[in-house]
Amino acid sequence: MTPPLTGTDLESRREHVAGRLLESSARHSFDPMTEIDWDAPLVDGLPFMPFERMSLYGTELWEGLSHAQRVELSKHEFSSGMQVGLWFELILMQLLSRYVYDQDPRSRHAQYALTELGDETRHSIMFARAAEKLDVPHYKPHWLTHEVSRLAKATMGGPSMWGAVLVAEETTDRMQRIMMEDENIQPLMRQVNRIHVIEEARHVRFARDEVANRMAGMNLVMREFHRHVCAVMSFMIIDSMIDPRVYASVGIKPSEGRAAALANPHYQETRRWMAEKITAFLKEHRLIGGPSTVIWKRGHLI
Ligand SMILES: [Fe+2]
Ligand SMILES: [Fe+2]
Repeated sequence: MTPPLTGTDLESRREHVAGRLLESSARHSFDPMTEIDWDAPLVDGLPFMPFERMSLYGTELWEGLSHAQRVELSKHEFSSGMQVGLWFELILMQLLSRYVYDQDPRSRHAQYALTELGDETRHSIMFARAAEKLDVPHYKPHWLTHEVSRLAKATMGGPSMWGAVLVAEETTDRMQRIMMEDENIQPLMRQVNRIHVIEEARHVRFARDEVANRMAGMNLVMREFHRHVCAVMSFMIIDSMIDPRVYASVGIKPSEGRAAALANPHYQETRRWMAEKITAFLKEHRLIGGPSTVIWKRGHLI
């Protein structure tokens, strides 16, 4: 483990990182409203996400679907991930706003946090507009998760907050990176993913730095506390990604679709694949470890 940075060393490192991220933001930021061709028609027969990354792929239920039904389900499953992503971005915007409340606005660090808040606002509008264009239901997390998150977004802070943010951002990023280059995916989805991937790379850099700074030298009691909070939040995020109502779009009972997905070894492997980069980082910085590891395993994140 690297020794913890303190005082001016820590401040100057933070300022350096934030300064670089602000420069990059000035060069590569996008307005999805003008950047994306919202009027272009969808392409008939093209999937909205790769079939092999869908939750039912490889199950008996999947075998019973026609190509057209698989395409339809891909639209709903991708839309669910996108709208649940929007839900999490709203949480993140509140977390960032609460975070900056305690910072010196003259610092590059605070200014970058505000820049990220602006990025997330544009992303949420982009996801909302895409869901409107695809004409899908309002997919969202379970009502209990919605209510528990009300408390989380009003109280969370420290490394578990940044860790949970990273789990949401990096698992989504893994999926979006393979989709933005894939010519067999709807062009609209590729455009949405491309903008998100470019801007999220900066958010990941910012949050990873905060996890590393804050975990270094942390005592056992606080470490266990943050490990548990991060594990529970990460489980809730990943478990919410697919609203079971998506399965009804192809005539599968939502409870039956969800049960088949959770028991599907292929989908469990997809979840681990989505999480493998971030969980390796969190293990390295000891935000994953100890008794709460069981929660990560139950979520098929490790
Ligand atoms: Fe975002
Ligand atoms: Fe982000």
